[in-house]
Amino acid sequence: MKLSIKDLDLKGKRVFVRVDFNVPLEDGVVGDDTRVRGALPTIEYARGQGARVILASHLGRPKGERAEKYSLRPVAAHLSKLLGGEVAFAEDCVGEAARAKVDALNDGDVALLENLRFHAEEEKNDEAFARELASLCDGLYVNDAFGAAHRAHASTAGITKHVGQAAAGLLMQKELDYLGRVINNPEHPFVAILGGAKVSDKIAVIEALIERRVDKLLIGGAMAYTFFKAEGFTVGKSLVEDDKLQTARDIKERALAAGVELLLPTDHQVVDSYEPLKSKKTIPIEFTNAGLVGLDIGVETVAHFARALADARTIIWNGPMGVFEEKELGFDEGTIGVARAVAEAADRGATVIVGGGDSVAAITQAGVADRITHISTGGGATLEFLAGDELPGVAALNDK
Ligand code: 3PG
Repeated sequence: MKLSIKDLDLKGKRVFVRVDFNVPLEDGVVGDDTRVRGALPTIEYARGQGARVILASHLGRPKGERAEKYSLRPVAAHLSKLLGGEVAFAEDCVGEAARAKVDALNDGDVALLENLRFHAEEEKNDEAFARELASLCDGLYVNDAFGAAHRAHASTAGITKHVGQAAAGLLMQKELDYLGRVINNPEHPFVAILGGAKVSDKIAVIEALIERRVDKLLIGGAMAYTFFKAEGFTVGKSLVEDDKLQTARDIKERALAAGVELLLPTDHQVVDSYEPLKSKKTIPIEFTNAGLVGLDIGVETVAHFARALADARTIIWNGPMGVFEEKELGFDEGTIGVARAVAEAADRGATVIVGGGDSVAAITQAGVADRITHISTGGGATLEFLAGDELPGVAALNDK
């Protein structure tokens, strides 16, 4: 059990809180703010305790260079609105600019530092940089950035060596609690829905889920075509990982041996050509011919997957069922259909955990977010955790 923010004496102290504010920005305005809202309980708790809160995050991958489009300034403005009070913004995460803003904080105040990744030392987990970050606080560090916990960076790992106490924030604890339960003690029937373009991204998770006795594995998205091709089906010009055909066969065999039901799409939305888009239609998988490109699951598959969820008690979903970003062309329909299906399962009492950018966006777009048991703020971190890996950002925290 890791030390919690609730174990710290925060009154009047400067506390360094690593958050994951890696959010989409559209024209300098925060788009989906799930991650910012996710950190609010920790920020509000710390303020309520009279702490002087120093928030730090990365945004995008600026590769150690300062770049305006990756500035966290718009996030500070957004956070100010959510908290209903001013959030000071420091132009840099170290040096004079950071020090001045931090020194000006009173008890209960909040400051957000500029993007940590404007310094190459962050991703290198540089010791001197980690020490500099730590020097901003009074020996108190909280990691609430579950989404970045799979990175061993200066602000997620190195810094913990230079503070007195390193604790988990409330979002971090919630994520570890829900995802830990799925992996260690799921209520059965336990169903996993996995999507996305590549099997290679999900191999470790699939293997861990089979080992943990998932009852059903539902596979959608382009990764399904690798499974179909491995079976000898014609997949046309759909996206396939040709070097993963044997992996797909091995996964199928392991699932069979473990008594895991593996469900693949039965129909899909196809086009003759993607760019330019030509002749969109929905057809059964077995009718796919050499000229077609599959871009989303069809309505029959949505119904097929929904039936597979009928008696589920635990559901984990990660990854889109098609090219979700093509909303105008309607290739988000399969993913939205699955979002509705998991929400209905949650209404019937199933514990439903959804992770990954597109799946979470589909939940929001379908208007079912408040029916989902837990929306994970992690992308890669969620997958690595579910695969059974120890996350460096968690390992670095003090034990209770
Ligand atoms: C994420 O978006 O998954 C996290 O913020 C980590 O970002 P990264 O993959 O750029 O390290």
